Amino acid sequence: MKALILSGGKGTRLRPLTYTGAKQLVPVANKPILWYGIESIVAAGVTDIGIIISPETGEEVKAKTGNGDRFGANITYILQNEPAGLAHAVKIARPFLGDSPFVMYLGDNLIQNELGHFLTDFKEQHMDALIMLRPVPNPTAFGVAQVDAQGRVLHLVEKPKVPPSNLALVGIYFFANTIHEAIDRIQPSARGELEITDAIQDLINHQSHVEARQIEGWWLDTGKKDDLLEANQIVLDTCLQSEMLGEVDSQSQISGRVKIGSGSKLINCTVRGPVVIGEDCHLENCFIGPYSSVADQVTLIDADLEHSVILKGAKVVGIHQRIVDSVIGQRAQLKLAPQRPKALRFMIGDDSQIELS
Ligand code: G1P
Repeated sequence: MKALILSGGKGTRLRPLTYTGAKQLVPVANKPILWYGIESIVAAGVTDIGIIISPETGEEVKAKTGNGDRFGANITYILQNEPAGLAHAVKIARPFLGDSPFVMYLGDNLIQNELGHFLTDFKEQHMDALIMLRPVPNPTAFGVAQVDAQGRVLHLVEKPKVPPSNLALVGIYFFANTIHEAIDRIQPSARGELEITDAIQDLINHQSHVEARQIEGWWLDTGKKDDLLEANQIVLDTCLQSEMLGEVDSQSQISGRVKIGSGSKLINCTVRGPVVIGEDCHLENCFIGPYSSVADQVTLIDADLEHSVILKGAKVVGIHQRIVDSVIGQRAQLKLAPQRPKALRFMIGDDSQIELS
């Protein structure tokens, strides 16, 4: 069994964060989204992992994620020169996959369920494909499945205008080597991509053994800001364990589950968990409320925030209004000008969103 993780794409829905980095490396609770997928694949016993990368962000993904040693896995990087679809990614990964069955995992997806028992069912029942489904309120944004009363998949359609059900295809699939023949038979879709959804439909058309399982736990597709904040909240809620490696002075009050990395200093701060603060941060006279993730080397002075994600090296100084539901990018600075406290001065990157009240 092998694994194929897709970590290419342009991440247009997460701009401006993705102008300078891969969407799969945007952190959730201070860990790149991609790494959750790798860990869950390794936990299911699969350690031979291929990662599809793009020319734009591939080097960054490689440099950050490495050869797999840190996960107990062996990672092979495979360059996809153009974003020509998920089935196209499988096609170019064929030399890596050989005739092995594999789990395919979209690098910006996160699920609560463990993969182990899906993998066991897939193997023991000799399936050609096993897909996962979850009811969603907005099926037009996904691949959608129509299933019969026994849960058998009748029909799959990618981003339908009129969805046949509310069951979206989760971005995690198990395939036997028969998927390659199906991919060879399909044509590019209207958006010019070789769709994996069409390849699975082709397997169904050829009476192959395709099954679906509905997942009960949470599923997050972290493509947009609000999804990212929700992912951050859920992961902090369910996975965070307290750990205190930094220094906290006697004026500060920490309550709930809070993790503070080494080299970080908190002076006169109130922190209400769940909150994660990275390494080498400086926090002074701050309130940090629940569901906040503060990455490494962040400076927060006279600031007040909750339910927000602050990325590496950002600085927030002298903002007394509470910052909520916000994502602040790497090295971004938000300061109150000392000379003219009521004046606003901006240097805002392309596609940024700022709401003042
Ligand atoms: C892809 C798949 C879609 C699936 C979704 C899950 O869409 O094409 O079938 O439901 O991932 O995240 P994309 O995110 O590439 O638009």
